[in-house]
Amino acid sequence: MPNAFISGTGFYVPPHRVTNEDLKTKFGIDTTHEWILQRTGIEERRFADEGVGSADLAAEAAKKALAKAGLAPSDLDMIVFATLSPEHSFPGSGVFLQKKLGLCDGPNAKFVPALDVRNQCSGFLYSLATAASMVKSGACKHVLVVGAEVHSAALDLTTRGRAVASLFGDGAGAVVVSATEEDRGIRAWKLGADGRYADLLAQRIWDIRKRPFIPVDENGVGQVAPEMLWAQMDGKQVFKNAVERLMTVLMEACMAADVTGADIDLFCFHQANLRINQFVQQHLGIPDEKVVHNIQRYGNTTAATIPILLAEAEESGKLKRGMKVALCAFGSGFTWGAAIVDW
Ligand code: ACO
Repeated sequence: MPNAFISGTGFYVPPHRVTNEDLKTKFGIDTTHEWILQRTGIEERRFADEGVGSADLAAEAAKKALAKAGLAPSDLDMIVFATLSPEHSFPGSGVFLQKKLGLCDGPNAKFVPALDVRNQCSGFLYSLATAASMVKSGACKHVLVVGAEVHSAALDLTTRGRAVASLFGDGAGAVVVSATEEDRGIRAWKLGADGRYADLLAQRIWDIRKRPFIPVDENGVGQVAPEMLWAQMDGKQVFKNAVERLMTVLMEACMAADVTGADIDLFCFHQANLRINQFVQQHLGIPDEKVVHNIQRYGNTTAATIPILLAEAEESGKLKRGMKVALCAFGSGFTWGAAIVDW
């Protein structure tokens, strides 16, 4: 059975920076830089321009990851796309990305499968585990795994929505998972979910159990109330469950890989809130120099967060061949996951 390793990483964030101060002055939200910074660690985030979708951001990140891996899009055997902000309800973003990578063009078109993963902040880890399984089974040699989000289009950028709107930003990260006979790669992963909390962090634009599934007025025009249109979150419950699940799943993954926390050279935690990660770090005794963060600059980019962290760490030289890396995420569902990777 081959090993599955990460042969390339890449990321892309849109150029438009939105500072905490901008939320106040440009969007008119009743907030302060200090409030957001103290509670979340966020200083700024990126917003995509109108007309840009998650697959557009993903394509930029994917091209970089492919270049790093020394591969062409036509070398891919599969695309796995994690996002909670797809272009449309269906089809998912994977097929848009496939087309943007040129895989549908010309005589050498390669109609590889495109799988969409809907696991919010842990979407990348669910996708990575799926890709690693496909590679280890021998079904695929190279799988592109992308996490990409355009949150800015679906944030209630008013004082009413400030508790959620101040947390999220746009971006994309990508990795290529490839087969190797070398003794390295994605060693172990653990995934989990607890559907009892499905309503605590959700965007419920429609309810398919209802007729009509989106409320309409007497003229048949859709009428979506603000609490349906915008994501709703019980922040305190999310915080409490996040710290518990992150710690547990990280330990489970370490046990599965037969390593201790001290063996890990670099920790990449999902970036939902710097305070969540600092709490976990302190309780597990993880030193600062072993942890990478980017929430200060990008906010919470959901499925894109961990591949962006990896690509940035590799680019800066902080992540090097031979290191042992822990990836760990928690998000809406609730869903969570962790993986141990020998880089
Ligand atoms: N600026 C100013 N005031 C704000 C803002 C803001 N951006 N957001 C909320 N407030 C106000 C609230 O309206 C509330 O005012 P009120 O008391 O008059 O009603 C007050 O601040 C306190 O609000 P809380 O929600 O109780 O604030 P809390 O201290 O819990 O912090 C936070 C909110 C930061 C979201 C916190 O609950 C948290 O971090 N939760 C974790 C959730 C998370 O990180 N989610 C990210 C997405 S999920 C994921 O990726 C896992």
